[in-house]
Amino acid sequence: MDGHLKVNRCWKAHFEKMGKEKSKKAAAKAPKEEVPPPPKPLVTFHLCGTDELQICGVLAAFNLLVSSLPSPAPFAIVPLKAEQVIAAMGSRAPKNCGVMMTDSLGRGTPLFGLKQCLSGLAPPLPSQVESSNVSQWMGWCESVLVPAVNKPDKLLEKAASTLSSHLSTTPTGRISDRRSLTIADIYAITTLMPIIPTFKPLTDPSALTSFLSTVPQSPLFSKTFSDSGRFITEKAPSDGLLSTLRGIFSSALYSTFPEAPELGISIMVTQTKDPKNGEYQCNNAMELFKKLPKPNAFKAPRDVALALTSEISHPLIEKLDVAGPGFINITLSTTFLTDKLKNLVVSGDPRPAKPKTAPKKVVVDFSSPNIAKDMHVGHLRSTIIGESVCRILEYTHHPTDRVNHVGDWGTQFGMLIQYLLESFPKIAEGDMTGVDIKDLTAFYKAAKIKFDEDEVFKKVAQQNVVKLQGGDEACRKIWQLLCDISRAEFEKVYKRLGVDVKECGESFYNEMIPGVIEELTAMNLVVPDGGAKCIFVPEYRIPLMVQKSDGGFGYDSTDMAAISYRLRELKAGQVVYITDFTQGDHFMMIFDAAKRAGWWNATSHKITHIGFGTVCGEDGKRFKTRSGDTVRLVDLLDESVRRMEESLLERNKEGKGSIPEGEIRSTAEKIGYGAIKYFDLSRNPTSNYIFSYDAMLDTRGNTGVYLMFAKARLGSIINKAREAGVDVADLEKAGGLELDLGHVTERSLAIEILKFPDVIENVLEALAPHKVCEYLYNMSLVATSFVTECRIMENGVPNKSRLLLCSIAGNVMQACFHLLSIECPDRI
Ligand code: ARG
Repeated sequence: MDGHLKVNRCWKAHFEKMGKEKSKKAAAKAPKEEVPPPPKPLVTFHLCGTDELQICGVLAAFNLLVSSLPSPAPFAIVPLKAEQVIAAMGSRAPKNCGVMMTDSLGRGTPLFGLKQCLSGLAPPLPSQVESSNVSQWMGWCESVLVPAVNKPDKLLEKAASTLSSHLSTTPTGRISDRRSLTIADIYAITTLMPIIPTFKPLTDPSALTSFLSTVPQSPLFSKTFSDSGRFITEKAPSDGLLSTLRGIFSSALYSTFPEAPELGISIMVTQTKDPKNGEYQCNNAMELFKKLPKPNAFKAPRDVALALTSEISHPLIEKLDVAGPGFINITLSTTFLTDKLKNLVVSGDPRPAKPKTAPKKVVVDFSSPNIAKDMHVGHLRSTIIGESVCRILEYTHHPTDRVNHVGDWGTQFGMLIQYLLESFPKIAEGDMTGVDIKDLTAFYKAAKIKFDEDEVFKKVAQQNVVKLQGGDEACRKIWQLLCDISRAEFEKVYKRLGVDVKECGESFYNEMIPGVIEELTAMNLVVPDGGAKCIFVPEYRIPLMVQKSDGGFGYDSTDMAAISYRLRELKAGQVVYITDFTQGDHFMMIFDAAKRAGWWNATSHKITHIGFGTVCGEDGKRFKTRSGDTVRLVDLLDESVRRMEESLLERNKEGKGSIPEGEIRSTAEKIGYGAIKYFDLSRNPTSNYIFSYDAMLDTRGNTGVYLMFAKARLGSIINKAREAGVDVADLEKAGGLELDLGHVTERSLAIEILKFPDVIENVLEALAPHKVCEYLYNMSLVATSFVTECRIMENGVPNKSRLLLCSIAGNVMQACFHLLSIECPDRI
């Protein structure tokens, strides 16, 4: 410790000298040797932020400052990966700490905010400054900090004496009263303070303004900005209940127990099952008690819990109780809940706000059926999951490229072309008379039989593949015809399912493949193997084959070219592939090879394969028709709608339904398709499932149909109120309404609604539609018990607060249906 003090004194001497020669003239005249040689940096500041402009602005300003100082600068600034700090601090980090500093000595916690660092220097920052942006901070610098540091001597002395007295009484180097400054703070003060006046423009507030405006134009700033990917996270924290609570508790944890990160402790907050134990609970006290270095002031985990709670005061929290051995039970504040809900009413839309920095593009490769073959139930999964994944990304403001990587270039075309030529000989001259292949599947089957049985046919067919890929015009024409027929069939399915995907099939990459192979060969990634060209991937027995021994290109070649194109031409920051799980190894090898080629790395890109499980029949085996054929997707959709139509007509006959005859078909389509989608999306994609119309069309339980009923029920209440003269839309517009959460079901519904941002954050992270389903189902249960237990119409007069709750819940449910691409009928 003494050593550090000496170094500090040495700096003090250095700056005192510098201070005396402050004026430019004097500085110019002063012989260089008179200034004591500057020692090594005293402190390394780790700077971290999550807002690109904010962190870049501050970092660039610091860098400019450093570059204007005699070399070496007394402090070094190292950008810290935001993830590291977030991991240590929970979600509070990015939002409330515009700039965070930790010291290079590893002391203290990431909680050193700018506020702490500078609080010995000047009047405290206004409380909002720590969560403010760089311009607010700069404004504070200009109006408060700079005038204060213009009288540096006293402050310097004060800081130095605080430091020495603390160092002499605190052997660990940590200042015992955790509310006061830490060593890093003192270092910051003693180093920063004398420096600031030596930086000429900073001594003059008006020059400061111009300095600040020149920062963004400086090359240093652009460099910092372009480097920013390394230390900035794009993830903004949600303001959901759970995230907020985690933030509050994390910050209390780190200020009460600064050693928590070193002990590997991070805050766990969960929702409780029984409201007797509060609404949420934090259970870290027991673990903390066990891990805290002994001796310490705590006799039992309860004391730890009490110490933690004594640090907490936040408008979200009504009450904290320490129960049992040290559980912290959290009761939320009703005022806070109602205020949050009112905000939702005013904005009318639960969608998260646009992040300040636009997220990078995401390429989603989904659906991707094969030309001339039917779309089967496996493609159904890819199509449904893919559409939902795209909606999740777009809802959270990510630009997406929805790519249909259709199989339009495989070896099957050789035999199809040959079979067509033989069946319709005039086709080669462009005469299409009599060509009728609406049923491509039957045509494909016939060609395949011939291919397997007739050696001569097989040979010619194989030559056709080479001709096609080499650009032979006749082959291309026939190929185009086949693609057009298939495309029209695929489009019909997409239209029925409300799916939007742009075709960019295997053939698109054909021209790029030779260049890609050449590049990979130059990197020594490609190895000749029995006449073929292969990329070996550690831990996989079979290599990727980028060129076959006959010179042809296959599935692997195309995918290498495709990933290169997506990362380097389309500049995607994230690529998602959605296929059945059996292709997992193929993609792992493609990702690995692309990484070794330097086309992506894990810090700047995210590449995922969502591999889904098999759809099985009632017998638990792969879903087949009675005759053993694969099930055609269109037949499956037809059957679901047919059954739903039948059941709606039945309900009408029994007097239970209210759908006019003319709307039965369109309603049955919405429910039928929605039920299939929900059945698929509601489980973890990796699991297999048994396809069952009875299960998916059930009106009870966790099914799409039940959820649509629950939503329609809210809608019909709103309609009734309108008929009684109260239009909820008018209430929402008028504002200024009181919301009453007195009944337990009202309160539970409010909490469920306010969980939405947490859910979205989770769903986006994992690209997991099943988590949307989980939430939607819970919401339906809570909303149903609310409308069952709370009368919304009392003697024909609607209760306005309850009506508003119905409306907000309905909006949040609607947002979930949208994410699942389920169109919900207004009436059932
Ligand atoms: N056409 C393939 C199939 O039906 C799926 C393609 C997936 N995408 C890709 N880039 N390989 O299995």
